[in-house]
Amino acid sequence: MMKKQNLTIIGGGSTYTLGIIMSLIAEKNNLPLKSVRFYDIDAERQQLNAEATKILLQEKYPEVEEFIYTTDREKAFKDTDVFFIQIRTGGLAMRERDEQISLSHGCVGQETCGAGGMAYGLRSIGDMIDLIKNIRKYSPDAWVLNYTNPAAIVAEALNRVFPNDKKILNICDMPCVIMESYAKMLGCELWDLVPEYYGLNHYGWFTKIRNHQGEDLTQKIKDIILEKGLEASAVDIAHDQSWQATFKNMQVMLADNPEHLPSTYLQYYLYPEKMVAKEDINNTRARQVINGREKTVFAMCQRIIDNKTTQHENMHADIHGIYMVRVAASLLFNKGDKFIVIVPNKGIIRNLQDDAMVEVPAALMNHGVEPYSIGDIPTFHKALIETQLGFEKLVVDAWFTGSKQTLVNALTLNRTVINVSTAKKIVDDILIENKRYLPQFFK
Ligand code: NAD
Ligand code: G6P
Ligand code: MN
Repeated sequence: MMKKQNLTIIGGGSTYTLGIIMSLIAEKNNLPLKSVRFYDIDAERQQLNAEATKILLQEKYPEVEEFIYTTDREKAFKDTDVFFIQIRTGGLAMRERDEQISLSHGCVGQETCGAGGMAYGLRSIGDMIDLIKNIRKYSPDAWVLNYTNPAAIVAEALNRVFPNDKKILNICDMPCVIMESYAKMLGCELWDLVPEYYGLNHYGWFTKIRNHQGEDLTQKIKDIILEKGLEASAVDIAHDQSWQATFKNMQVMLADNPEHLPSTYLQYYLYPEKMVAKEDINNTRARQVINGREKTVFAMCQRIIDNKTTQHENMHADIHGIYMVRVAASLLFNKGDKFIVIVPNKGIIRNLQDDAMVEVPAALMNHGVEPYSIGDIPTFHKALIETQLGFEKLVVDAWFTGSKQTLVNALTLNRTVINVSTAKKIVDDILIENKRYLPQFFK
């Protein structure tokens, strides 16, 4: 019998919460839960998700003995076995400003890439450090899965402040979401595929895809993408125009460099002008999410609450949720499953500095994660990674020192900006817009 676990979700008001709960229900045999607790700083936003979750759990997961939601950290954080962190400092409103500021200077405006990612990173770091300190006060041995973005910058910051904490794991669902599209195209299940992959978060490549029988499917996948393209297949994004356009671009990226299978996010770094040209500053991705995912999720919560049942809703577990739950199960029950996660390099990629936070496959064990070694990577990919890594490290340096010059240097390294005078203007605008989050730059 597996011991029933206590889960705390930080950012209970997130648009991803219901999908996570559906995934916990679908995976209850892999990760049996005793309690589920939500914590958020926004009581009202969290309450909608929570009241709907209460009904959902009663109907589909009565084995959960306790469900609470609170804005009190002690209540939420004590005696927890595993935390999921999914916060967004500044909310979608600030995401929209990040995207608009970047675009107003002719640069890529995106949640995690380029100048938008820098602004979001600067906002996330402080809240994340503060949360981890509190988590460790109340649950010193719990596993902490963080997928708060920008995951690369958050991971770098947390690794500096908590270098010896082996139970904080930063993760991203993108590799899994891409593999879901490969699986659909091949006519198999996502979980049949075994990846080899390296890079930084939102900045990596698959080098091989095999199945559990050991058959190498890499060339087959490349051939199909080159001939027919790739579709977004994961249920949560399959009907999303923006994600379909992104997946369509995979064909272009692969044709331009067929060596490895790229992460979707590389489109922003490899074709920045093209990405800027198709944007509408009044309808950036944040606005689409506000009018789309956010509205849909909270309208569904309200209906569930009004109807006092979920039975009229078409609800499903999503890849994002299933991935997080399976990662947690592997860690909690020492299963050693192979998943792509973000870890300190320490020789995994032999020709890259040890203190880079890299995204690579690892065996997930209860005592910690054990990454598989990659060896040397090619000069082209190494140089791209090092430039982006320089950007990420400088953003974190700047957060600690409050140096504006360091931010300008960071953006100068970023492939979506490069030009120093543009970098200076964007930094000025971002700091003014984020003044209340970043007092260290105004001393
Ligand atoms: P959202 O704004 O809808 O939800 C975030 C919630 O966090 C809100 O309810 C907000 O009140 C709360 N919050 C903000 N600061 C907090 C704090 N300090 N403590 C507790 N709660 C806090 O955002 P969303 O679109 O649902 O996304 C949530 C997060 O998940 C984002 O960071 C997003 O980028 C991330 N995400 C990451 C991946 C990945 O691949 N790594 C995938 C999906 C989502
Ligand atoms: C992918 C990425 C995440 C990102 C999410 C939503 O899953 O890996 O990091 O937050 O997409 O992006 P969107 O633009 O739809 O909010
Ligand atoms: Mn991601």
